[in-house]
Amino acid sequence: MPSTLIELHEYITVALSGVVESPRREAELLLIAYLGRDQLYFITHQDDLIDESDPKLLEWIEKRSRNVPLEYLTNRVSFYSREFYIDEGALIPRPETEHLIDEVLARVSPDEAITVVEVGVGSGIISIVLALHLPNARFIAVDISPAALAVARRNIQVFGLSERIELREGDLLSCVTEKIDVLVSNPPYIAEDARLESNLSYEPQNALFGGSVGDEIIRRLLNEVYERKIAMFVCEMGYDQRISVQEYLKNFEVQSLEFYKDLASFDRGFILKGHCE
Ligand SMILES: C[S@@+](CC[C@H](N)C(=O)[O-])C[C@H]1O[C@@H](n2cnc3c(N)ncnc32)[C@H](O)[C@@H]1O
Repeated sequence: MPSTLIELHEYITVALSGVVESPRREAELLLIAYLGRDQLYFITHQDDLIDESDPKLLEWIEKRSRNVPLEYLTNRVSFYSREFYIDEGALIPRPETEHLIDEVLARVSPDEAITVVEVGVGSGIISIVLALHLPNARFIAVDISPAALAVARRNIQVFGLSERIELREGDLLSCVTEKIDVLVSNPPYIAEDARLESNLSYEPQNALFGGSVGDEIIRRLLNEVYERKIAMFVCEMGYDQRISVQEYLKNFEVQSLEFYKDLASFDRGFILKGHCE
């Protein structure tokens, strides 16, 4: 039997209580996404009748009440003011990763015909947004996960960038022999024994965990930057990894090392300029 929107909102709020942090707001977001409408519509159509037996709606409510992220139900995620396809094969892009884009764009001119390599492309958001802003750059984007590469491929096609972003499957830079001008990465950087919120269990675990300490992949990338004489490396990291990055880099001669923060003022990443040939 159909319910009104306001009744359904109440029902979903109860279903999400104790599961998500803001059940009322999350129930509203679910209904807005389900209806394909905006918040204004939601507020002004509270008495509309909704078919509550629609299998898609029932599935969304059931999955959301198990804390499956809404983005995996809608297959949509927004990043840097653009919309991307997403599914369980790839990490859901996080707003803090937008800072990494800003840090690169503050240092690279759109005129430069450089080779940018991304390690851990996931859904493709970093390489795609950078490619849209850097029309003369060529991109090679690597991931170890075929499922993530499938998500990236789909997004790259939607943005018409298949000619400019080459996807490769491999472990870090093992499949890249070309000279790299700029390396970018949002690698997995969480320690394996970290206690995480339950919704993270739906995301690919190899996108989250960087090793027993957490910064193992970052360290391997730092070795690569040094050995290959990569001019610039822009990398996201955990809020508590600044000291370990600084300590590790004492082993190398570097030109400069700067850290950047996220909106919550946590350390979130760094820009390393190495010695290039
Ligand atoms: C934190 S996610 C980042 C995804 C995307 N770039 C973003 O910012 O949303 C890390 C990605 O690194 C990939 N990855 C993990 N270990 C890797 C490795 N050894 N070599 C290449 N990619 C790896 C994962 O599959 C995952 O897609």
